[in-house]
Amino acid sequence: MCGIVGYVGSKDVVTMLLNGLQKLEYRGYDSAGVAIVANGCLEVHKTKGRLSGLCSLMDGCKAPGAVGIGHTRWATHGEPSFENSHPHTNCAGDIAVVHNGIIENYMKLKKWLQDEGAVFVSETDTEVVAHLINHFYTDDLLSAVQAAVTHLEGSYALGVVSEKHPDMIVAARKDSPLVVGVGNSENMIASDIPAILEYTRDVIFLEDKEIAVLDCRSVRIFDEYGKPVNRDSYHVDWDAAQAEKGGYEHFMIKEIFEEPRVMADTFMSRYKEGMIDLSDIGIDEKLVRSIRKVGVIACGTAFHACMVGKYIIERLARIPVEAEIASEFRYRNPLIEPGQLVIIVSQSGETADTLAAMREAKKRGAKIAAIVNVVGSTISREADAVLYTHAGPEIAVASTKAYNTQLMAVYMIALELGRLSGNLPIEDYIRYVEGLKNIPQLMNTVLQTKDQLARIASRHFSQNSVFFIGRGLDYVLSMEASLKLKEISYIHSEAYAAGELKHGTIALIEDGTLVVATAMQRRLFDKTVSNIKEVKARGAKVLAVCFEGSDMPAEIADEVITLPDTDDIFAPLLAVTPMQLFAYYMTVEKGFDVDKPRNLAKSVTVE
Ligand code: AGP
Repeated sequence: MCGIVGYVGSKDVVTMLLNGLQKLEYRGYDSAGVAIVANGCLEVHKTKGRLSGLCSLMDGCKAPGAVGIGHTRWATHGEPSFENSHPHTNCAGDIAVVHNGIIENYMKLKKWLQDEGAVFVSETDTEVVAHLINHFYTDDLLSAVQAAVTHLEGSYALGVVSEKHPDMIVAARKDSPLVVGVGNSENMIASDIPAILEYTRDVIFLEDKEIAVLDCRSVRIFDEYGKPVNRDSYHVDWDAAQAEKGGYEHFMIKEIFEEPRVMADTFMSRYKEGMIDLSDIGIDEKLVRSIRKVGVIACGTAFHACMVGKYIIERLARIPVEAEIASEFRYRNPLIEPGQLVIIVSQSGETADTLAAMREAKKRGAKIAAIVNVVGSTISREADAVLYTHAGPEIAVASTKAYNTQLMAVYMIALELGRLSGNLPIEDYIRYVEGLKNIPQLMNTVLQTKDQLARIASRHFSQNSVFFIGRGLDYVLSMEASLKLKEISYIHSEAYAAGELKHGTIALIEDGTLVVATAMQRRLFDKTVSNIKEVKARGAKVLAVCFEGSDMPAEIADEVITLPDTDDIFAPLLAVTPMQLFAYYMTVEKGFDVDKPRNLAKSVTVE
């Protein structure tokens, strides 16, 4: 996520902006910049890379009593570069904008504005906003921003300054957070509380579609219809560390609760009038006609997204899929057919084994489509095409929201391959696309299981071993559930195909063994229930995960997590989050470092 700050008051605005941005560095970024209105002039200073570079650039700059906005960019549209860094301005350079979010209709607006004569200098969606405000500007900045945002689709938190209004900041938000810091003869905006905590603890949380006008004496808020809104400020009693986590105890739980938003952002970045648009990554009819199999390659959690991908691509497109662990693929003299599609999945885009596997596949003639979270990462630059997830920076080492967005991307690819192959009837395609679009909303209900998971964890955190079982998609989901528990709670666990237990592993089940059984594939429900009875008969404690309304027999499940109803095919998207919460609370009960588990790195850039 990008970081936004703004200041209006009597202090030196350069110091205020740079200090504020430093408090947001934890969010992760690839460039930074500020816009200052001082002595009747608007100046923009920005740099690719670290904030320290911007501080050096601004060394000695002072602007007491000026107004300004600042930004740290997490690239979503356009690689990290000077031109793509924020703030962005109109052609005259007298209006500057910083933005956090995704303007989904920016291409259409950009073309219209270019036809109107606007000259763009960046690849970003944000620059559209600066030209749009300029388009509507006559003599009042608030009116121009109010008019501009009515044309924006997607998510935004905006800070706007203008040379013609040297004493004010206009701020607007929709879906991306933005807070106003209320000071004494000074006021601030920020995308997150840490940036302003040093100067004030009185904040106003802007609501969706509200617009705020700040000067050094007042904060005025207007709703989407321009009607003034009276809003009391809220006194924050967090310390700085708590503020970075948005009041959550750990980054991991904060990131789990970001899943509805980031899953929606990832989906909506490709959703166009009821269809999924992957044409720019070369997944089209010509490709689908030419391939006989698909490879999906990754490491760790990302590999589990590949496993889900294998099952759903084969189910929807009837194209054989080979899911490979990158560190195995790269050394086994793999069989790749020239022109074959290989999907590489990587949050960081820097994992050494995954990068090597991609190069090996490419060398053998594969066409590489990468699912990556970090714009401008090595894998994103070397792949033939990239489908970016929009998880934002993931601070906790154990992947949660990034994995969920990888799944969204995998489902979108599977649906397109199904449609293009002709094996998925268009009416099913449309139904599934709408179902996928609705998943982020269902995730808000899924997250309500957190207290139940916390209670379950309080009873089972001393387990030495946990089994995760399921059939079909419930089995591949179990792989990620098992890894999540292992990597942060250090409790041994295994993911097992439920139908495979009787071929050996059931020997390990004894009195009190915890078995987490996912039964969300309705056509396999009875068989999974039979497997649960098998382990129950040997003394297991069973935590069952199923759709609401499933007739899970009460006598076999010690605890049932019920999830909102949807098509079976989407089970991995819903069920992984309770598993993440389970792992999280088991770890909290054990008192281990949830965000930085032992022996692990966020990105394994060495073999
Ligand atoms: C994340 O929970 C895991 N710790 C880890 O397996 C990770 O998924 C794997 O290292 C791949 O990372 P990447 O997605 O950045 O390539």
